[in-house]
Amino acid sequence: MITLTDIAYVRSGVADLDAATRFATGIVGLELAAPTEDGVAHLRADHRHHCLALVQGPSGVLASGFSVRDTDALAAAETELERSGFTVRRGSAAQARSRRVREFIGFDDPFGNRLELVSQQETITRPVAFSRPAGITEFGHLCLDAPDVHEAHRFWSTRFNARVSDWIGDAACLLRIDPVHHKLAVFRGDHPGLCHMNFQVATIDDVFRNWHYLVEHGVEIEMGPGRHPQSTAVFLYFLGPEGFTYEYSFGVRRIEDEAAWVPRTFDPEEPGSIDMWLGPTTRPITQRQASRDAEAAPAGRTT
Ligand SMILES: [Fe+2]
Repeated sequence: MITLTDIAYVRSGVADLDAATRFATGIVGLELAAPTEDGVAHLRADHRHHCLALVQGPSGVLASGFSVRDTDALAAAETELERSGFTVRRGSAAQARSRRVREFIGFDDPFGNRLELVSQQETITRPVAFSRPAGITEFGHLCLDAPDVHEAHRFWSTRFNARVSDWIGDAACLLRIDPVHHKLAVFRGDHPGLCHMNFQVATIDDVFRNWHYLVEHGVEIEMGPGRHPQSTAVFLYFLGPEGFTYEYSFGVRRIEDEAAWVPRTFDPEEPGSIDMWLGPTTRPITQRQASRDAEAAPAGRTT
């Protein structure tokens, strides 16, 4: 059993790095870290050095990163995964530096999603210099696709410390690795990919202010504002460049009493099961998983 201590980052390949970075800063509101690497933009939302890295190259999600406690835990995870038949690749020093972690390993989940386990992700204490006042407080969760969410639950709950918080029928499995209702979700989808990346905001007013801001700026709203009955979060999903879906949300439930919580099942066809305010609902757009070597020789890099 591998203990995930937190979500760490999303790494996404973008054909137009400037456009994707402009959206992540000017629209989403993230801070752009001082550039240290050609072809990579590091975006910051909280104490992490970055939680989103945009990498010049073919469009598609490159990896989803999760933290383990330390380098010993990482080595143990590597051994455990290899013994279970996973092909595990250890990151180079330069790759670890790009991720602002001490060490990391990469492997594919059974559905083709690239996962990375990292040790010692860099923390920054300086307040985040948000590009606009969207009210972001932290990187909230990430959501992956898998063709069978029950199989995905088996993977996450037997190999890792993830526990299901709620089911949305066969459509979604919402998983926690700490008291937050979900830091990880798996949505049913035919191909591996990142369904969306969530940022928590400070107040319900931020959700609605952001909604007006996005509409004014011509951003495609995918769903919301609405309220998920599972997590009680007020949500807003919107589409960024290259098929990358962002979500703002406020008010996610915390599960403090592990023993008392029993996962519930919601029928996705039942009105109110996705949005208890009964607004129109749609399945967020997934950014497909990029090919394994997409980051090996990204366009625009000279080295
Ligand atoms: Fe979400």
